[in-house]
This record gives sequence, structure tokens and C-alpha cells, in this order.
Amino acid sequence: MSKTPVIACNALHKTFSEGPNQVVVLNGINFCLEQGEFAAIVGNSGSGKTTLLHLLGGLDLASSGSVRIMGQDFLALNDRERGELRNRHLGFVYQFHHLLPEFTALENVGIPLLMRKELKIAEVKKRASAMLEAVGLGHRLDHKPAELSGGERQRVAIARALVTQPACVLADEPTGNLDVHTAQEIQRLMLRLNQDLGTSFLIVTHDLSFAQHIPRIFRMEEGRLLDASAMAV
Ligand SMILES: Nc1ncnc2c1ncn2[C@@H]1O[C@H](COP(=O)(O)OP(=O)(O)O)[C@@H](O)[C@H]1O
Ligand SMILES: [Mg+2]
Repeated sequence: MSKTPVIACNALHKTFSEGPNQVVVLNGINFCLEQGEFAAIVGNSGSGKTTLLHLLGGLDLASSGSVRIMGQDFLALNDRERGELRNRHLGFVYQFHHLLPEFTALENVGIPLLMRKELKIAEVKKRASAMLEAVGLGHRLDHKPAELSGGERQRVAIARALVTQPACVLADEPTGNLDVHTAQEIQRLMLRLNQDLGTSFLIVTHDLSFAQHIPRIFRMEEGRLLDASAMAV
């Protein structure tokens, strides 16, 4: 029997109201990400990539259509249950790291675990520092975001997304604001974590040299998601 996909969406539509006008951003998206898969979405600015990632991560709701995370339909859940499902199975890396400035790297990474209210504080610290170690920041545990470089902050954000051992990480242009060298370092890290931990990744990226290393590529175009794996991206 095949495994449940980590994410599956069906006939997904999203329309925004702009004054009297309705703007159709997503126009019937069907997509499925299997466990352990690494996929990327490319597409012009404004084509709806962030909107799609937010719907797949349960941060926003579709106008119609369904999203399933590990087989569970987001629409069938209330806000609290959706939050729990997200915390249990998904990690999110934003374009701008979204770390909390008053907390250290260790505390920022520990927060998703604390939210589960299942572990003792010593265990939270242990897992958060192990994850920071894994992204090469074992020597920066007590630094606050302002005391870290752009690449280090993004690595903390990745550690925060991974600390709960999610089935899938959704990342929205995670290297878009980094210099080429740092971006490549973060990209290699994500590919390695995919191989070592089996975590699925769905990444929005503009970086075509990175996309070349990714087995499944989709292009967002006119509200649709086209499989571009076989085409030149
Ligand atoms: N909350 C919103 N209200 C109205 N329009 C929105 C909202 N969010 C996004 N949009 C519009 O949806 C389109 C797609 O945006 P977005 O998903 O951010 O694109 P991308 O990430 O591909 O650059 C844009 O035209 C944007 O203006
Ligand atoms: Mg975007």
C-alpha cells in the first residue's frame, strides 16, 4: 500500500477582493507531495506562489477546494485543530526569517516544541540545541537575531521549522535575501536534511541554479501549477 501523501490539494481556488473586483489568484490547483519528496515552485512575482504555500500550510483558507495534510482535511478542522495539525506535521520557513528579536537562537528554536506542552524544559533545550548543532550553529545558541548574520538567522529559522521533526517543510524563498555563497550553503543544508531525515520539502525559489538540483519543479502560471520537471525552467 502506498503511503499517505504529506500534502495533497484538490481543485484549489483562491480569489481576493480588490474593491469591487475579484482577483482570481489560484484557479484550480491539484498537487500532491509524497513523503520524502523535494519539490520546488518557480514563477513570476505576483503569480500566487506565496498564496499557495499559505493555503497548503493552513495559514489561510481557500475559496474552494481541499487541502489535506497527512490525509486530514484542513477545512474539516477549527482554528485550534488546524494549528495543532500544522505544529505536528509542518514546518514553515518564511522569506524574512520571522524570528522573535527578544529571544535567543535556542529559545526561538524551542518555541514550537514548547507550544506542544508535552516536554520538560530541559528536553526542549536539548532538542533545540541539537537542531542548531545540525545546521552548524552550535556555537551561537545564546545569540539573539540581531547578533547573527543573515545566513545564520535563516539557518535558525530552518532549525525552528525542523525541530518538531515535521513530515514536511514549506519554505517561501528561504534564500531570496542572502548572498550567493550563503544561499548555496542553505540550499545544500536543505538537500542534506531531506536525505538524512527524510523530511519532505516544498520550496518556492527564484534561484534557477538551485532548481536544477531539485527533482520536481513546478511553475506557477495564470493561477495554475504546471509540472515543469521535464522542461527548461
Ligand atoms: N491578502 C491579499 N489581498 C488581496 N490580494 C492579495 C492578497 N495576498 C496576495 N494578493 C494578490 O495575489 C497575487 C499573488 O500574490 P503572491 O501569492 O504573494 O505572489 P508571489 O508569491 O508569487 O509573488 C498578487 O497579485 C497579490 O497582489
Ligand atoms: Mg511570494
